[in-house]
Amino acid sequence: MLKHLSLIKDRFNRARNIAADIDTPEKKRQFNQQHFSVAAKRYDLATRAMSLGRDRSWKKQLIATLPQGGTPNCLDLATGSGDLAFLLAQAYPTGKVIGLDLTTEMLQLAKERNNYHHLDFICADMAITGMAAGSFDIITGSYALRNAADLGAILNEIQRLLKPGGHAAFLDFSKPVSLAAQKGQFLLLKSWCGLWGLLLHGDPGIHAYIADSLKQFPDRNNLHLLIGESGLDLIASRRFYAGMLELSLVRKSG
Ligand SMILES: C[S@@+](CC[C@H](N)C(=O)[O-])C[C@H]1O[C@@H](n2cnc3c(N)ncnc32)[C@H](O)[C@@H]1O
Repeated sequence: MLKHLSLIKDRFNRARNIAADIDTPEKKRQFNQQHFSVAAKRYDLATRAMSLGRDRSWKKQLIATLPQGGTPNCLDLATGSGDLAFLLAQAYPTGKVIGLDLTTEMLQLAKERNNYHHLDFICADMAITGMAAGSFDIITGSYALRNAADLGAILNEIQRLLKPGGHAAFLDFSKPVSLAAQKGQFLLLKSWCGLWGLLLHGDPGIHAYIADSLKQFPDRNNLHLLIGESGLDLIASRRFYAGMLELSLVRKSG
């Protein structure tokens, strides 16, 4: 009993100190790989629960913002269990779709669900894909940019991989500009996501990580500036859930 209590105490302490585990790109990359290999076990359930069932509809809205029809080459970054990759495969039955992720346990979930002949999953770091420049018409990422070890590097990689005139769409938590709102959002996410980490994994840190990764992430205005600095044009953006999440559509000029 005492051993059990001390394990829970350790996990609460770790959940409080996640920031120190992700404060350099290399630490964050390693943390993510280890973290998502554990989170994979109940990932889909956790995503539905934490979003109160809204996540699926946000992802469908992301696909609806993309140019319709044609035979595009599509890449879904940080695909996880593949939700967006499957929606892309449905939306572009004569296109080609690749889902990419760093964590084999997450990719395994996606591969088990895959019945599409024009959809493949590959294991790679989204900032160093090794793919040819100008290969993709469409790039997507849900909860991808915030998980990047180095945000500037991933934005540059997206810019490099897109064909001129190509589109990228992102869905992620959106950090407000005011410090008071940032604090409120941090506390809300730390407790709400921590609660689901505790219920589903016996470890609050598993999902409380969302709050810490957002703390390191630029606020929504600075994110838009960084997107512009990487040579991509932000052409549409909308927010959900009282501004907690943002869907953004960007285009590479050409
Ligand atoms: C919160 S999950 C999002 C999964 C999926 N896109 C979704 O919306 O459900 C974040 C994913 O990012 C992946 N990831 C983290 N760092 C990565 C990196 N450097 N390169 C590729 N994938 C990465 C993790 O393995 C994990 O599957």
